Amino acid sequence: MTADLEKNFHLALEKSQNLQMLEELRVRYLGKQGMITEALKSLGAMDPETRKQRGAELNRLRALCQEALSVQKEKLEEQALTLKLASEKVDLTLPTLALQKGTHHLITQTTEEIVRYFERFGFKVEEGPDIETEEHNFNALNIPPHHPARQNHDTFYVDAAAEPLLLRTHTSTVQIRTFKKGELPLRVLAPGRVYRADYDATHLPMFHQIEGFIVEEGIHLGHLKSTLIDFCRAFFNKNDLKTRFRPSFFPFTEPSFEMDIFGNGRWLEVLGCGMIHPQVLRNVGLDPKKHQGFAFGMGVERFAMLKYEVNDIRNFVTGDVRWNRQMSVSRAFGT
Ligand code: DAH
Repeated sequence: MTADLEKNFHLALEKSQNLQMLEELRVRYLGKQGMITEALKSLGAMDPETRKQRGAELNRLRALCQEALSVQKEKLEEQALTLKLASEKVDLTLPTLALQKGTHHLITQTTEEIVRYFERFGFKVEEGPDIETEEHNFNALNIPPHHPARQNHDTFYVDAAAEPLLLRTHTSTVQIRTFKKGELPLRVLAPGRVYRADYDATHLPMFHQIEGFIVEEGIHLGHLKSTLIDFCRAFFNKNDLKTRFRPSFFPFTEPSFEMDIFGNGRWLEVLGCGMIHPQVLRNVGLDPKKHQGFAFGMGVERFAMLKYEVNDIRNFVTGDVRWNRQMSVSRAFGT
């Protein structure tokens, strides 16, 4: 009897391949109405001798079944866990899927770098429109019609209005717009897009300039020179950067200069500058006897090309994401 029970239990145990089957097996043998439990209940009706012997056998069998069940349960639980871990495996060596962050375009970065520098000295940013009047772009800046200087500023004209409109050829227009507001003294930085009919490795039909100017009492050439020398040394990160000012001509400054820096064994022209021409001040109703100022104009592309070693200006506008990313903020701000 007990031997049969035991044999059948072991056969059933072998077939119990999951926890649910195992539990069913336990109930069938050891549950309240299980076979072993029932057999134990039946002991009371037996004579003392048989009861003693059967009782001992059944108790041994019960202990044996309990032990076997718990061993098998542990085994199945472990198997289930291994299976679960394998199916939920996380590969920590996979590269991340985070989206690549964008960066500002090198021109924006360079503009900000320059603006931030001058802001420390009290310069405020002013802006003017890309589509300008001939008056602001030329006449008021002491470049009358037929002045030869206009030849270097060939641009795109818009003949929609009564007054001739054009795509501004320089940001010097912002001088006139700011002076007309009549607030003095002033220190202004005017970044923006400018346009000319040019296109090659060093010229774009649309490029960026930053115009800077000061009108204050007693401003002289010494201020102009030290301001620009200090700026170039800071921008190019070179305290002993050699610079020079060459006499030049601009209709809106007198005297006028071209500033050069020394790099890679040669002089490189970086910007134009000068003392604001008395006629420009008169044109906007200021008295040149009372007000003096200096002005400078620089090309953002040119400064970026020199600092970041860009050899073809067209790289700025091809929109090649790889190039733009390579020229990212980390380079511009040295982080
Ligand atoms: N507006 C000039 C240009 O685009 C650059 C320039 C030269 C600006 C001398 C100035 C200056 O303010 O003083 O060619």
